[in-house]
Amino acid sequence: MADFITVCPASEITAGQRIVFNIKDRWIAIFNVSDKYYAIEDVCTHDGNTLTEDEKGNEVPLEGFTIACPRHGAQFDIRDGKVLRAPALVDVPWFAVRVIDGNIEVAV
Ligand code: FES
Repeated sequence: MADFITVCPASEITAGQRIVFNIKDRWIAIFNVSDKYYAIEDVCTHDGNTLTEDEKGNEVPLEGFTIACPRHGAQFDIRDGKVLRAPALVDVPWFAVRVIDGNIEVAV
């Protein structure tokens, strides 16, 4: 069973923002959408591209709860990691998030 790990104060990720952390050697993106937090692995299951940043270092915007890989356009739901559009065929790992005493904790 995954342990919850304290990542940062919740105030560091304000509504509409995301931060990518290296936790237990995995790149994990934590998103704040309307003050609810979601965490997925920041690695596309199609061919390993980062999901949150394009090749120029620009942030990939969310469309609702959907993020589109900047390389070939696969789409994932950040709420549960489900793949929504090919060419990816496999869901991206999703992690439970909670806020305890003002700190974000992620189960990795
Ligand atoms: S690497 Fe993400 S869609 Fe191909």
